[in-house]
Amino acid sequence: MPALLELHDVEARYGAVKALHGVSLVAEEKQIVAVLGANGAGKTTTLRAISNTVRRSGEVRFAGKSLARRSPESIVRMGIAHVPEGRGTFSELTVNENLRLGAYTRRGGIKDDLKRVRELFPWIERRAEQQAGTLSGGEQQMLAMARAIMARPRLLLLDEPSLGLAPLIVSEIFRIVRELNERDGTTVLVVEQNANIALEAADTAYVLEVGRVALSGPSADLREHEAVRRSYLGY
Ligand SMILES: Nc1ncnc2c1ncn2[C@@H]1O[C@H](COP(=O)(O)OP(=O)(O)O)[C@@H](O)[C@H]1O
Ligand SMILES: [Mg+2]
Repeated sequence: MPALLELHDVEARYGAVKALHGVSLVAEEKQIVAVLGANGAGKTTTLRAISNTVRRSGEVRFAGKSLARRSPESIVRMGIAHVPEGRGTFSELTVNENLRLGAYTRRGGIKDDLKRVRELFPWIERRAEQQAGTLSGGEQQMLAMARAIMARPRLLLLDEPSLGLAPLIVSEIFRIVRELNERDGTTVLVVEQNANIALEAADTAYVLEVGRVALSGPSADLREHEAVRRSYLGY
């Protein structure tokens, strides 16, 4: 059985700027995998290389199939949902409208998915008619995740869900990530600068430095790793 997601020697560039210099990475089904690294290390680009929203070479395989030359939309249909950096909810639309947009690739079962999403995010039902742009930062992050979950993904890509949020909200977001992973078996690839919380939630982790994998392994091992502690955990 191939791993759910495999990146092999992936390079990516923005015009003349090379952002990834050969990244290889594996996420097994039902795992939470963290991608850590400083600003500019290539974390966001790694997620874009998976959802085919950046020019790249090398190999990306999902459930044994190559993702080369597939459109971002067909990648969503295959079961990959991407919550981008900065959330990307439609601020003029209501909470409910945002959720329904998340289900656009699917036909039946939307009612069930709304129910599942409301179990994960109990506040969402009470705010159904609220304009997304008037939600707090944490609520907007959760709505972006909820919208992605409406596509019923096998793989959820999360780009810095903790960015700019208070510690309590960050804990709540990672609690939901774990619940989704345990309850539905959703595989999660989460990019974070908050290495502490990401290593706590993840099974395995990769540390990127200037577009390359500098270190990888089980999260518990990386937490004990001297260089990781000094550079990313701050003790
Ligand atoms: N749209 C872009 N145009 C040109 N360079 C970019 C663009 N987006 C990112 N980069 C560059 O690619 C590198 C990796 O960026 P990124 O993947 O966003 O890093 P991270 O998410 O780890 O902060 C950086 O050097 C960044 O400046
Ligand atoms: Mg980024």
